[in-house]
Parts: sequence; structure tokens; C-alpha cells
Amino acid sequence: MTGLSTRAGGVLLREGGAQDIAAVMTVMDAAFDKQFGEAWNAQQCLGILGLPGVWLTIASIGEDAVGFALSRVILDEAELLLLGVSPRFRRRGIGQALLDATMENARHRGVNHLHLEVRQGNPAISLYERNGFSEVGRRADYYRGADGSLFDAFSLTRSLRRD
Ligand SMILES: CC(C)(COP(=O)(O)OP(=O)(O)OC[C@H]1O[C@@H](n2cnc3c(N)ncnc32)[C@H](O)[C@@H]1OP(=O)(O)O)[C@@H](O)C(=O)NCCC(=O)NCCS
Repeated sequence: MTGLSTRAGGVLLREGGAQDIAAVMTVMDAAFDKQFGEAWNAQQCLGILGLPGVWLTIASIGEDAVGFALSRVILDEAELLLLGVSPRFRRRGIGQALLDATMENARHRGVNHLHLEVRQGNPAISLYERNGFSEVGRRADYYRGADGSLFDAFSLTRSLRRD
């Protein structure tokens, strides 16, 4: 994504960085159910934000961040590491807008394939399927929940080529 982009409903998308960590953690804490062990802590986010090829997209309404996407590119492959929208702002297209911005940004960086991991049973799978992602593998017991329970991950991929 280059610069700012405004979507329907007054949602503003912009590229973020380490300076946005408080906003990211506010959304993270609200968006990810602790039961499933998918959320990252601030140190993990800051650590990865310092690496080359990592980018953050923030969705906000007015002053408040309501969603974010964190991604990483290596050569012509990219991974969507995290996508979250605060529960109160869901089902109004913000997750889709973040995914669109991520795919657009990835294409801009020369990416041919976008990968992600998602917990088995996560409703986000519907969002990914409708965006052309398909399953390419499974990792058993990839997520560890707060109570120690383990959840499998689906590896999903889609091509970003326009041909
Ligand atoms: C996944 C998530 C980012 C979706 O955000 P969102 O802003 O609600 O998504 P959108 O409104 O753009 O949804 C677009 C479409 O995706 C599908 N979708 C999104 N959430 C869905 C759900 N809970 N159940 C079924 N379909 C869903 C629908 O097709 C939806 O279109 P519709 O509302 O017209 O039916 C949000 O639910 C979230 O933060 N979940 C917790 C964190 C998480 O698990 N992230 C993904 C793994 S990293």
C-alpha cells in the first residue's frame, strides 16, 4: 500500500510501524481469543517489525485503530502473519479491506504467492476461502491455548499472479 486509503464507512487504511505498537496490542487483545493461543505479545510484534520485508497495515476509524494486518515477504513469497479486527467492528468489510491491501502491497513487492496459517475451525477460514486461498497442508498441534490444549493449523495459499 502506498500512503493512505479511505474505504467505505470512514475506515482509513495506512501503513504502520513500531510506533503503532500500543494500537496494535489494543486490537490484538480484543480480537484474538486467549483460549486459542494465536495472539502475539508486544515483544514478538516489535521483534518482527524490525526485520526487513515486514509490513504492518492499520485500519482506523477516527482516532481509533480497529484492525491490523502484519505480513512478511521473502523473495517472491509472502506470509500473512496476523489479521485482526476488534469484535465490535466486525462484519463490515474491514478484514476484507485489510486483506485486499495486503495482497495489493504484496503484488507491489513482486510476490507471486501469499501464504498463511489458520487454526482449524477459525471462522476466518470463510474469509480466506472466498478470497481464493486453498489448503496446502496441516500442522498438528500448532497452536497452544491458554489451558495447554493444542489446535491444528491449516496452511493456506493463493497465487497473486494476474495472468
Ligand atoms: C477474521 C476477521 C479478521 C474478519 O474480520 P471482519 O472485519 O469481520 O471481516 P469482513 O467483515 O471483511 O468479512 C468479509 C467476509 O468474510 C467472511 N467472514 C468474516 N468473518 C466471518 C465469520 N465470523 N464467519 C463466517 N464468515 C466470515 C464473510 O464472507 C464476510 O462477508 P459477509 O460479512 O458479507 O458475510 C475477524 O473475525 C477477526 O479479527 N477474528 C479474530 C482474529 C483471527 O482469528 N484472525 C485470523 C487468523 S490470523
